[in-house]
Amino acid sequence: PNEDRVFSGIQPTGVPHIGNYLGAIQNWVKLQDQYKDIIYCVVDLHSITVPQDPKVPQHAELGWILMCLCTMSRLKLLPQWKEKSKTSQHVGVGLFNYPVLQAADILLYKSAVVPVGDDQVKHLELARDLARLFNNKYGEIFPEPQHMLGSSHRIKSLRDPAVKMSKSDLSKLGHVDITDTPENIREKFKKSKSDFTSNITYDPVERPAISNLVDIYAGITGLSTEQVCEDCKNHDTLNFKLALADIVIETFKPVREEVNRLLEDKGHIDKVLYKGYEKASEIAEQTLQETKKAIGV
Ligand code: ADP
Ligand code: NA
Repeated sequence: PNEDRVFSGIQPTGVPHIGNYLGAIQNWVKLQDQYKDIIYCVVDLHSITVPQDPKVPQHAELGWILMCLCTMSRLKLLPQWKEKSKTSQHVGVGLFNYPVLQAADILLYKSAVVPVGDDQVKHLELARDLARLFNNKYGEIFPEPQHMLGSSHRIKSLRDPAVKMSKSDLSKLGHVDITDTPENIREKFKKSKSDFTSNITYDPVERPAISNLVDIYAGITGLSTEQVCEDCKNHDTLNFKLALADIVIETFKPVREEVNRLLEDKGHIDKVLYKGYEKASEIAEQTLQETKKAIGV
């Protein structure tokens, strides 16, 4: 038990996949037993990238305050910006700025611990930098939030191990969602990319596709990657994929059933969300007022 607050979020842009689970959600569940004070949210402003939403004005407002402290050169260093801005000529300002909004999401709740996947490490560094900048300029308000990584490395697309598994991946076979049917899961693993070697070894550089499957297997079973390769040394890649599919099916069966059960009662979901919103906005409003007082606005 610890008095520190835990905070994390997820984008509402699709169904959570096993990468989200192994990178973050697995830890969210674990931390529920270790910390009293926990806020997990759906980061809707990030997905729609509009500047305002009547329900979450504090996030946009602190986001703006932090943007005024942040330099453009600092944001240009972020790997996600470098990557995403390469692919399109019409890149919105929101895509450039969103790590600052994300820092505001975290700092508004003065969270100490932020369970996230490793693609978020650089963004947490930015959040700490901004907390420090603010504190130095206006007085000590924000604790520096520490990231807490999940059990696995970054999980990659089943179709292309060069990119991470993502909700926004348009290829239907690249991501395994936690609500996929058993048939669906089996098909995705069966068709997952592998290479010309048939045994199971862990070598992310030379054999990225197979190593990604070993990572998923290890993350879900809690075994080390060495142990997975040892246990599966008599499997060829197809047998290994089918064994992995079975484990994933078994693990997420209760999750899928529970999600489907909850979706039957949208009224209940709205009530839970509203209760959470009331609790969170009280904290957020208090921090925002402190912040504005410190700045003198
Ligand atoms: P996505 O990029 O799939 O839309 P989010 O941005 O909503 O996912 O991320 C939610 C959480 O899941 C974050 O903590 C993020 O670091 C983690 N995460 C996302 N993709 C992966 C992945 N492929 N492997 C491990 N963790 C991931
Ligand atoms: Na992400």
